[in-house]
Amino acid sequence: MTSIFNPFTLQIPTKILFGRGRSAELPGHMRPYGRRVLLVYGGGSIKKTGLYAHICELLKDFEVFELSGVDPSPRITSVNAGGRLCREQHIDMVLAVGGGSVLDCCKLICDAALYEGDAWDLVLDPAKIKGALPLFAVLTLAATGSDFNCGAGITSLERKEKRDVIVPCNYPKVSVLDPALTMTVSRRQTAAGCADIISHVLEQYLVGGSAMLTDGLCEALLRTVIKFGPRAVENGEDYCARTNLLWASSLACSGLCALGSESSVWPAHAIEHEVAAYFDCTHGESLAVLTPVLLRLTLNEKSAPRYAALARAVFGVKERDDFAAARAGIKALQDLFAALGLPGRLSALGVDDRSQFAAMARHVCANKPLHEAFVALDEALVLELLQQSF
Ligand code: NZQ
Ligand code: ZN
Repeated sequence: MTSIFNPFTLQIPTKILFGRGRSAELPGHMRPYGRRVLLVYGGGSIKKTGLYAHICELLKDFEVFELSGVDPSPRITSVNAGGRLCREQHIDMVLAVGGGSVLDCCKLICDAALYEGDAWDLVLDPAKIKGALPLFAVLTLAATGSDFNCGAGITSLERKEKRDVIVPCNYPKVSVLDPALTMTVSRRQTAAGCADIISHVLEQYLVGGSAMLTDGLCEALLRTVIKFGPRAVENGEDYCARTNLLWASSLACSGLCALGSESSVWPAHAIEHEVAAYFDCTHGESLAVLTPVLLRLTLNEKSAPRYAALARAVFGVKERDDFAAARAGIKALQDLFAALGLPGRLSALGVDDRSQFAAMARHVCANKPLHEAFVALDEALVLELLQQSF
């Protein structure tokens, strides 16, 4: 493993309001941007939890328009509907209230508000994004880090495609992170969120050269999820666990975990996007299945020392031999996912048609530089991975 420190650029313009009750401060931050707000949320959890009523009260001095029903793995159809609403109603700003899906959808709505055509054009070619409405967010689920980054994953089930759009104008202006708002997240979604956070760190940590300081951050984040993930799954109202997971989720996907290190092509996420596009599975659950299989398939002379370092630093593995340590680490990761109640196979996630795997492997290799992964992946290896994950 090479210790390096590559040059980097970092600019995270998002203001984070972290802690209980911080949403009360939102109106003050929003007021300078106008009065007409598009409030966007998902399938109704915010109504059940009472957050919707609270937000409406907060926005009583604004003119509020609404878009609801944003799906997990948000669809381009919601983006187009939101963009149209913004243009027709001369919306000044967007307020996302929900998990990563609502936030991601809103990022593209903010872009689509300034674009007359089909928003899928923007997903295919983000250079066409010429600006965005201001975005504010109240996050309700610890997983994606969408509150603290400028990325968004958008799906077109019709085209069988899920793509990431990463543009600097999509950083939220302000994100409210109130751990209390995550206490109603189900066991299943809490566990999926933990797997997602872990995957975000591993995607950036498992590279050929990294900065020691950044490694330390990655390892601390992983240890945090290992400690508090099971506690939050066991008792959703464990405020301390929810707090730690929430901040871990933001840091893990903020870019900080890659500073100074070699860049990564995020192979697990690339393959997960195929699974989501073809079978509409839950993001974190797919990652929990794919990641251990990916690590096993890519364990070789080159990767063994790095995988072993992970196992020793994070899972307390004592094996001196790198291969043995790496295998023990992968097993510990799989055991953690099982302890969180996460499914171990794609077939348990609703993936029911293996005949699609070849097309998925072909598609991902044609669109993502997986040959540049820490251990290069080709179509045959991705196909093998999908088969073994089934
Ligand atoms: O839709 P509602 O009714 O709100 O219910 C949601 C949804 O069913 C529910 N939920 C959210 N907060 C809740 C709650 N239920 C009870 N109490 C609460 N407080 O949880 C379900 C899942 O929500 P979703 O937003 O889909 O989950 P998550 O935050 O895991 O987001 C997943 C999406 O984010 C993308 C993924 O690809 C996926 O589409 N990602 C975004 C990233 C980014 N922007 O940087 C990075 C990630 O790698 C990820 O790709
Ligand atoms: Zn993810």
